[in-house]
Amino acid sequence: MTFPQENNALPQPSADALAVSHQLEALINAEIRRNSGWISFARYMELALYAPGLGYYSAGSRKLGAAGDFVTAPELSPLFGRVLARQIAPLISAGIDNIIELGAGSGALAVTLLAELAALDCLPRQYRILEVSADLRERQQARIAAALPALLPRVQWLDRLPERMFAIVIGNEVLDALPVHRIRIVDGQAQELGVILDASGRFAWACRAAFPALAAATPELSEGYETEIGLAAQALITGIGQRLERGLLLFFDYGFPAHEFFHPQRDRGTLMCHCRHHAHDNPFLWPGLQDITAHVDFSAVARAAPQLELLGYTSQAQYLINGGITDLLAEVPASDVPRYAPFAAQAQKLLSPAEMGELFKVIALGRQLPGPPAGFARGDRSHTL
Ligand SMILES: C[S@@+](CC[C@H](N)C(=O)[O-])C[C@H]1O[C@@H](n2cnc3c(N)ncnc32)[C@H](O)[C@@H]1O
Repeated sequence: MTFPQENNALPQPSADALAVSHQLEALINAEIRRNSGWISFARYMELALYAPGLGYYSAGSRKLGAAGDFVTAPELSPLFGRVLARQIAPLISAGIDNIIELGAGSGALAVTLLAELAALDCLPRQYRILEVSADLRERQQARIAAALPALLPRVQWLDRLPERMFAIVIGNEVLDALPVHRIRIVDGQAQELGVILDASGRFAWACRAAFPALAAATPELSEGYETEIGLAAQALITGIGQRLERGLLLFFDYGFPAHEFFHPQRDRGTLMCHCRHHAHDNPFLWPGLQDITAHVDFSAVARAAPQLELLGYTSQAQYLINGGITDLLAEVPASDVPRYAPFAAQAQKLLSPAEMGELFKVIALGRQLPGPPAGFARGDRSHTL
């Protein structure tokens, strides 16, 4: 997602939006009271983002795109999905003719991928979407129906991962949207940071001993260090690894290898909130009206599915360049300024190290593929994980 790093002038939500947020606050408040006064931050984040009808991704607000809270790569430009389509087309030709997209947002990537694969005469037999938000499911359906009505019958929505998978599984900015556990190192031990109600009834942080799986997933860190542990993201990758009999996993997100994620200077973690293109770090502000995310520890992702082979890890810019984004740009003559200029500006955002090119990474894991996946021929950084 792209956003300016501003914290000062957060736009005030409308009265209707605040009323929804107050309902969600009341729901979280009641859960804290029922749970003896403390819930894990992961549970808070799950409710703030996904509580049915009230959470950020479950209620009907605009969220993605220029008029929403942030812009993702497939929203920004069809170039992203067109490059991806060209990378996966050979796998579809080799018989892995199923795509499963996790967390499809507004449906932008699904539309671009299907249109480009149709143009390449390489359509998958099925395009399945696993989406937790009922509201976004409806939007995906409407968008695909409007853009590609003839292809709608190939698209299905899943409630859970299939038990056995022969598929190309893709996800853009899904891992960063999964609930994270927060920890703080106290007296050399991992403590879990959870959410309580303070004397005025407002949400506040409080520690308790980390449960064994959380303590085991926490590396050795200095006293007072705070960070996030993405147990849900790891569990999702583990689940796919157990089910994938043949195929590829391709996940794009912002994040780092473990040695950078847990860098001594990153001692307050990576939690971030986004509201109307403003970024700040207070997850207790207006629950349900802002996105809450954490960066991805790609070393943990790579380790989470031991059944799968790590096939590549690199920056988004390197992946898109390896995949031929410059050839796609060259299809429009630079002399055609009205068409070329916006296209070039989109490519610049996707590729520039100051925008999405370097912070965003792509990781590929797979099993029984016909050859190495395209996109990692130059600049593979798998050795850093
Ligand atoms: C930041 S948005 C990204 C949307 C889209 N992929 C894009 O790039 O524009 C995160 C998406 O993941 C979905 N999501 C969150 N948890 C999920 C899960 N466990 N399984 C499937 N989708 C999930 C959200 O509802 C939302 O559609």
